[in-house]
Amino acid sequence: MELAGVADVAATSLVNVAQKRSYAIFAANDDAADAMRKAGLTLAGNLTDGLRSADLVVDTSPKGITARNAEMYRSLNVPFIVNGGEEHELTGHSFSALANYRETLSKQAVRVVSCNTTALCRVVTALKRSSVGIADIFATIIRRAADPVRTKSGPVNAIVPVLGGLSHHAPDVLTVIPDIPIASLAAVVSSTLSHVHMVRIQFKAPVDRDTLLRSFKSTPRIVLVSGERGIVDNAHVLELHRDLLRPRGDMWEVAIWEDSVYVEGNMAVLSYCVHMESIAVPENVDAIRAMLELERDPGISIRRTDEALGCYREDADYGSL
Ligand SMILES: NC(=O)c1ccc[n+]([C@@H]2O[C@H](COP(=O)([O-])OP(=O)(O)OC[C@H]3O[C@@H](n4cnc5c(N)ncnc54)[C@H](O)[C@@H]3O)[C@@H](O)[C@H]2O)c1
Repeated sequence: MELAGVADVAATSLVNVAQKRSYAIFAANDDAADAMRKAGLTLAGNLTDGLRSADLVVDTSPKGITARNAEMYRSLNVPFIVNGGEEHELTGHSFSALANYRETLSKQAVRVVSCNTTALCRVVTALKRSSVGIADIFATIIRRAADPVRTKSGPVNAIVPVLGGLSHHAPDVLTVIPDIPIASLAAVVSSTLSHVHMVRIQFKAPVDRDTLLRSFKSTPRIVLVSGERGIVDNAHVLELHRDLLRPRGDMWEVAIWEDSVYVEGNMAVLSYCVHMESIAVPENVDAIRAMLELERDPGISIRRTDEALGCYREDADYGSL
């Protein structure tokens, strides 16, 4: 894969990094072009120029902008990916690599689901791989207030629960895995590091803890961390990934606390950490491969992406995806 360029409207040093890394930069709209040039950016043209040299576009612009861009991509016949802030209906197909890669082959428009939904889809996929029927899943989602760079967002000192019923996260999982009995609640907290999910699963039959742990261990893009070994909270999970010299401190995997996995009869509970900024990155790469049919086998695509990023695990089972 080759990055044909980056389109944005921001005349900021963040976009300047793309220039320093020798990517072509396009103005996402004509109004932005002047300001971008004045800020010292060398533009390769506008977004439509960029689309001419691209086989596909990944749109990660903010909510509202993407829907307008989608009309343009359709009119120019360029396959496109939108991200989790958009509605399922914008593309009619929502994607999570472990769950529905095959159904994504040759699609022209795909939504890669949000960070929280991606994490839920991976965990549900791993639970399904344990081969014990699932009767019910309930997830409580503790959401970070904002990404670290969003210094104007809050709450600064509050916990904001979802009011008026269940949260939108579980219904979003159903856009990818339609046959799973799942519901969720959520609250936003004064933190910027990551999300944390706490999940309770009712199985149709008694389950044992080792079976669940084996399923998690064998599933790509899930890692186990342990409070007993010092990783007691999300700050320690992310510190671990910085120490592993991950670029930007990225953690593309869902990190399940091994010692949170507790089983009693048909019921299990577990908690895990979701790095919102990076978890959807490998999913976008796999969506590209599926849409352009560069690879028909999900396991091969997921493995190639993981190897390229640096999160391939020899003990994970890529063969049976
Ligand atoms: N931030 C996260 O943690 C996260 C996680 C998973 C998925 N997502 C999804 O990714 C998408 C982007 O989210 P984000 O938080 O990165 O958004 P953002 O607001 O940080 O914007 C992303 C980029 O879009 C640029 N932009 C602004 N207006 C534009 C325009 N008119 N045309 C082109 N580019 C424009 C911004 O300058 C910025 O570089 C959303 O769908 C979001 O739901 C975000």
